[in-house]
Amino acid sequence: MCGIVGYIGDRNVYDILIKGLHRLEYRGYDSAGVALETPEGKLNVYKAKGKVSNLEAFCKDKDLSASAGIAHTRWATHGEPSDHNAHPHYSQDGRLALVHNGTIENYKVLKDALMQHGCVFSTETDTEVLVQLIEYIKLRNGCTIIEAVREALNQVQGAYAIALLEKDHPEQIIAARKSSPLVIGIGDDEFFLASDATPFVEYTKEAVYVKDNEIAVLRQGEPLKLLSLEGDEEHAVDVTELQLSISQLEKGGYPHFMLKEIFEQPDTLRDCLRGRIVDGGRRIVLTGVLDNARKFLDAKRIVIVACGTSWHAGLLGKYLIQGMCKIPVEVEYASEFRYNNPVIGEGDIVIAISQSGETADTLAAIQIAREKGAFVYGISNVVGSSIPRETHSGTYIHVGPEIGVASTKAFTGQVLVLTMLALCVANLRGTITEEESNELGEWILKLPDIVKEVLGLNDSIKHLSAIYTYARNFLYLGRGYNYPTALEGALKLKEISYIHAEGYPAAEMKHGPIALIDAEMPSVIVAPVDHLYEKIVSNVQQVKARGGSIIAIVSKGDKVISKIADHVLEVPAVPECLTPIVTSIPMQLLSYYIAINKGKDVDMPRNLAKSVTVE
Ligand code: F6R
Repeated sequence: MCGIVGYIGDRNVYDILIKGLHRLEYRGYDSAGVALETPEGKLNVYKAKGKVSNLEAFCKDKDLSASAGIAHTRWATHGEPSDHNAHPHYSQDGRLALVHNGTIENYKVLKDALMQHGCVFSTETDTEVLVQLIEYIKLRNGCTIIEAVREALNQVQGAYAIALLEKDHPEQIIAARKSSPLVIGIGDDEFFLASDATPFVEYTKEAVYVKDNEIAVLRQGEPLKLLSLEGDEEHAVDVTELQLSISQLEKGGYPHFMLKEIFEQPDTLRDCLRGRIVDGGRRIVLTGVLDNARKFLDAKRIVIVACGTSWHAGLLGKYLIQGMCKIPVEVEYASEFRYNNPVIGEGDIVIAISQSGETADTLAAIQIAREKGAFVYGISNVVGSSIPRETHSGTYIHVGPEIGVASTKAFTGQVLVLTMLALCVANLRGTITEEESNELGEWILKLPDIVKEVLGLNDSIKHLSAIYTYARNFLYLGRGYNYPTALEGALKLKEISYIHAEGYPAAEMKHGPIALIDAEMPSVIVAPVDHLYEKIVSNVQQVKARGGSIIAIVSKGDKVISKIADHVLEVPAVPECLTPIVTSIPMQLLSYYIAINKGKDVDMPRNLAKSVTVE
């Protein structure tokens, strides 16, 4: 939530910041702003409500000269989205400008104290409190800006990644982080900073991931300095080579990132599999698991924690791991787990799933699990993000940057990693026969091509979407492995088209939701051939008998449901545990086209942000 960018160097500062903000817009788009410092030390701040393009329009006739600058794109927490609540925020004397991603939890106490000392506030944000506090400390103590930042941050509770400019000091940007991401790009006599590396990937591949409780000092002509928040100690600078390429950040001819990411799935699944299923499917090489084989052999139970789409993948993880490894698995929303006194300890494995690797609730759940002695395994996409660094071991899904706010390729990547993990652990524990394992391994290797075939449904789904564009409610039903898929289908529809949609286990429908069914309430029923097929046929009939229209996702050659349903989308038949990867694709496309028909901005749906770094 919220994206920050900064640059100091000889390039066009404004252009770099604006381009960077566009890349980070997935993190929030309630307002945007820039602070530009001229080589003479003049500080200009421009901000505008809404997307980055509004800021660009606002800046058209402004003085954009600068040798250093910071910028922000906001997902509102404290204070409504408006011009004046937009970042950067000024200190009262106008000498400091600050951008911030995170939340200052004790801002109210700090604000009251500062007001008693005569500070006047012009916004409702927690961020203004921080910049005023830094200014107040600097004036009171007559200290350097770094000392003032350090003392202020030591008074702050909460999460932050910040960047700060000081009037008359165009030579430096100061940045710091705690629990919100911050990465610095090191160029040739220039520095970049951002919430992730996407704003500067075309300028440098050298990145430094700032750690919690570190202050970074970026001065042109000097090496990067990382200082401890606790004292004067200087930390070593650990440079990482970025693996990101610029083409991964562009739409590549597609109208939206979401559509590009849906269509990328044959490739992303292939990337996710690479080197992990070898010898034609006979060997599963998941090093995160194999290096910790003892933990998985001795595990008494596994608890999966995640949020949103990643939680749906987690639910599938439960079916996969319980089914193959015979280990009891629980799945918890990270936000509930962290406050529910979880009974967890040594011998338990906690698997944390997160595309961004930065979700605040998932991070907090990991910390609790670690403190209680569990072995924590992460499944993330963003390399170098917080979750992989906070876990004992893990696996990257390697699907490349996911920019569309609605998760698509990350979901299938997560499910694929969980499938490989279950298979790998089942092999270790001997809970699957060699023959079964080899057969499943061979099928997994075929998934990228199978998904490519499923994408051939694109035109029919586009056509079908027109019929349902104006439905006000949807029901998504599935059983077994396709119950979590139904939940995910419903989430996709509601988040980008704003149509109310509920996912339900198909058999549960008769205990309540069936009352909703009438001619106005379409149901998407996910019913590939599996051991519950006969059961779901009855559920389909129950919907039909009440006049509900049905879009059925079935296996090729289906004879029964195809005759009952109003619309049928046929997907290739695969082993039951692999069906979610195949059946989720038509639902992704259906929600995409319905949202497009309604004229919605699918890549930036209202109120959402891709990386939820606040509670
Ligand atoms: C839905 C979606 C969200 C995320 C959730 C968790 O399309 O993207 O529900 O899945 O915010 O995010 P991560 O996986 O980054 O922890």
